[in-house]
Amino acid sequence: MYLNYFGLTDNPFSIAPNPDYLYMSPRHKEALAHLTFGLRESGGFVMLTGEVGTGKTTVSRKLLQQLPDNTQVAMILNPTLSALELLATVCDELGIAYDADKASLKYFTDRILAKLADNHQAGVNTVLMIDEAQHLMPEVLEQLRLLTNLETNREKLLKVVLIGQPELQQLLKRNELRQLAQRITARYHLLPLTAPEVSSYVAHRLSVANGDISIFSPQALKAIHQITGGIPRVINLLCDRALTLSFTKQHAVVKKPIFLAAAEQILGDDVVSQRIQSQRKWMLGTAFVLALLVGFGIGRLYV
Ligand SMILES: Nc1ncnc2c1ncn2[C@@H]1O[C@H](COP(=O)(O)OP(=O)(O)OP(=O)(O)O)[C@@H](O)[C@H]1O
Ligand SMILES: [Mg+2]
Repeated sequence: MYLNYFGLTDNPFSIAPNPDYLYMSPRHKEALAHLTFGLRESGGFVMLTGEVGTGKTTVSRKLLQQLPDNTQVAMILNPTLSALELLATVCDELGIAYDADKASLKYFTDRILAKLADNHQAGVNTVLMIDEAQHLMPEVLEQLRLLTNLETNREKLLKVVLIGQPELQQLLKRNELRQLAQRITARYHLLPLTAPEVSSYVAHRLSVANGDISIFSPQALKAIHQITGGIPRVINLLCDRALTLSFTKQHAVVKKPIFLAAAEQILGDDVVSQRIQSQRKWMLGTAFVLALLVGFGIGRLYV
């Protein structure tokens, strides 16, 4: 509703994982590079982890766009499946016909392995991408590992990309999954954006929607990092609300108080005041340490 008012052609802060809006922070760039190189290596698994809302799914969408044409991808978005259901879903995704009456682990596995061999013969690489992989059950992960057993002298015929929240790392530390853990050839943990990256992120998303960073005052931009901790999804939610509030009040520039009001509406005023206070404490602490260091330096000059 505020698009015309701010001269935007699209909603800059939608929370859909649209790769067209991807801002390549150094970490997002590294994450994408790790996955891309990992898939070119001979091993079976690559893994991307990160806190909630840091951009894992968005990066994986970008990866999908960049895969060579001779790649067949099976995507699993809801991995709360049994091993049998997982294999059936892999068959569906890879276009493998099967007889549901015969469904068994062995039946599905044989069909998938035959398809992997056919793809390989035809020069097609097969990639299985699993988002929200922290929800996979250990026995399902073990079944996945068995699927990656098929290999030529040079490489695995199935590459698996596991994407998930930090719990995925814990899951793979389990003793019964150590064989799988050893086969992960590339892993990357995505961290939140730093303060300068938050401003570039906001500028980037606005520019894709034909807007300009001057819609936010410099103080508001500082507050965005302070309140969101650099988590992209939270930034989007709060910036979208801040633009709505500014539009309602007919303010052409989003100032800090409007941004804080938007943050309070979405996160609650207790969370917002807590984050402002912890930032103040941090600044006071830093100033104190700096003062001590300066005092110590001056003291030494006079000794
Ligand atoms: N580097 C980025 N550039 C542009 N937008 C981003 C970036 N990272 C995240 N976002 C945006 O933040 C929101 C959350 O991203 P995404 O869904 O990819 O996070 P996630 O890590 O997969 O979250 P979850 O842990 O809930 O699965 C989306 O709107 C996405 O477009
Ligand atoms: Mg996600």
